[in-house]
Parts: sequence; structure tokens; C-alpha cells
Amino acid sequence: MMTNGYAVPSPKPLHNPLGLLAELTHRCPLGCPYCSNPLALDRREDELDAATWARVFREAAGLGVLQVHLSGGEPASRRDLVDVMAAARDAGLYTNLITSGVGVTDQRLRELADAGLDHVQISIQDSEPKSSDLIAGYEGAYARKRGLAVAVVALRLPLTVNIVIHRANIGRIDELVAMALDMGALRVEIAHVQYYGWALKNRAALMPTRQQVEEAVARIEPLRKQHHSRIVIDAVVPDYYARFPKPCVGGWGRRSLNVTPAGRVLPCHAAESIAGLEFWSVKDHSLREIWECNPAFNAFRGTSFLPEPCQSCERRDIDFGGCRCQAFALTGDARATDPVCHLSPQHHVVEEQAAVREDATYVYRRL
Ligand code: SF4
Ligand code: FES
Repeated sequence: MMTNGYAVPSPKPLHNPLGLLAELTHRCPLGCPYCSNPLALDRREDELDAATWARVFREAAGLGVLQVHLSGGEPASRRDLVDVMAAARDAGLYTNLITSGVGVTDQRLRELADAGLDHVQISIQDSEPKSSDLIAGYEGAYARKRGLAVAVVALRLPLTVNIVIHRANIGRIDELVAMALDMGALRVEIAHVQYYGWALKNRAALMPTRQQVEEAVARIEPLRKQHHSRIVIDAVVPDYYARFPKPCVGGWGRRSLNVTPAGRVLPCHAAESIAGLEFWSVKDHSLREIWECNPAFNAFRGTSFLPEPCQSCERRDIDFGGCRCQAFALTGDARATDPVCHLSPQHHVVEEQAAVREDATYVYRRL
């Protein structure tokens, strides 16, 4: 079978998905220059209602999904957030609220906790309040995020702090970990900007230097040792300075799936950036039908579609040739070896783009 030029290999046997990213809305008060949502946002009037989300969660649990990440945009932009979260709990899923920290009132947080919310993840832009607000494009955001963290910890909900790293904050790894500790987080995720979608508009303004990256990476192990009993530090080398690509989303259509606010089901959050794929909706199909039968899910399952050098590479079943969205963004072919890999014949594209840096003002993401 073909899907707009991409041959669909036989996908059997299929893995079960373990995680579901539920993008409840694309509405968000912040304007982060590296926003990972697609360029064309789903409109409020097209968002799935709470009853449909409840069905999606039941179907997800039936497929083997164990945890749901309630995300956005800002999920608190939805008035029915507590009902949606409770439906996920009723389906037997572990619930993680991923929030900007702006828009979740103390009362709403208490209601979520009372309804069984399991975990909260707050994203924060920097350890310096002024810089944090500048990156978020929202004055006062830093203070509100810190305030929400206090409320989360007071309710004894486990807290993860997520920090996206780029040129403006990469020199403060120690301060960022200290901030997460001070906020009472049990885990801190240090994630470098992924350059797809909106982040491409700001790539030159966000791109760190190789020296900055090496210095930041060198700080991680000492910090892990220093704080090992108090906080888990998750950190990965940024794509543009790595030797090998990451096994993006654990492999296309292998372990996780995303549902957009309007109900389209995707193998990863950036999948719609790949031209020529058609993604089915939960409005028309069950989650199982989509997971098993949507040609777009089968297009890059496994490794048989990969060209050389991946086909004869011993890392083929470890990284699946890297990220399909990045391969498409950088080469125009989603089957290509991710050019992040130093063995890719197109690796020079990554090196050339990493060298472009410019102190331009951010292009903020606004609805
Ligand atoms: Fe991974 Fe392909 Fe690079 Fe091998 S050649 S490391 S499989 S991306
Ligand atoms: Fe889509 Fe990596 S972000 S496969």
C-alpha cells in the first residue's frame, strides 16, 4: 500500500502504545519562541468535548496505554479540565498535567487533586525572573509558575519541572537545577529546543554554540552526583551537536500516540509537518482502528523503509534512523536517515544550520 508516495510496510507484530499525549487545546497565554505546536492551530470550536475525550481514554486503556499526559497549549484554558482529567482516571490511566503554570488557580488545582490527579509538570523558561518572562512573552509568568509549584507541593502531588534550553539560558544549568530543587520538584527535565514548526522561525536566535553545549553537558553528571538523593535530572544532548540521533518517540507508531485538540491522531506532536500524510480522527474511527490501520502510522513503522547507511547499521533497532519529522524538515524526505547522524550523507546540512546564529528578537507564538 502507498500513502502519498510513502510505501507502507507490513507492520506486524504491533507493539502496544504505552503513553498518550492528549492535546486538550492549542489555546495558551504564553508565546514561547520554540512552541512545539503545529503552525496551523486547531480552533476552539473544533476541540473535542469532554465526552469524546472520555471515550478516547477508555479506548486508549483498551489498547494498553498506561499513562496520559494532559497537555496543550495550556490545558487549564479548558473550563472542563477537571471533568476531562477525572475521565482519564476513571479509564484507569495515570494522569500527568503538563502546564505552563499560568491559568491554573489554587482552587482548580485542589479540584484536580480531589478528583485523583497523579502528577504535575510545570514548564519554566529560566531561573532569572526577567529572562523567564521575556522568553515566555508574558510579564509575571515566572512568579505565577513559582506560586503554582508551592500549591502543588502543598497538596503532596509529585512535581516535575521542565526547562527548555537554548542560547539565552544554557549558561545557567546549575541555577536551573537549584531552582527546581527550591520548587520542591522530584524530577527536572532539561530539554533542548527541537527545531521543527514554530522553533524554525527562531532557530538563529535560539541556537547555542558548540562550546556552550559542551559546558552545559559537562555540568550534568556532577549535578546528578551532588543531588542524587533529592532530584532526578533528565537531560539529553541537543540534536544539532549530537553524533547519533535520538530514537524519537521511541520509534514511529511504536510506543506512543498524540491526539490533537480537534481529534486527529498522530504518532508524534510534529507529524503533521510531514507533507503527504493523512491522519485519521477519533471523530471517525476508534483509536484501535487508527493505531492498527491508518496508513500514516504504518508509513514509518519498524526499520524496513530506512535507506543506507541505516539498513546495515548496528544502531538501526536502537534509534530507528532518528526523527522522521527532522529528516523531512532537513531533507524533504521523511524516510531519509536523520541528518543529525554523523553517518548521514546529509549531515553537513545540520552543521551548516548550527553555525547560523543571530541576536534577533524572538518571533513569539500568538493565537
Ligand atoms: Fe542510527 Fe542510521 Fe545513524 Fe545508524 S546510520 S546511527 S541507524 S541514524
Ligand atoms: Fe516526529 Fe520525531 S518529532 S518523529
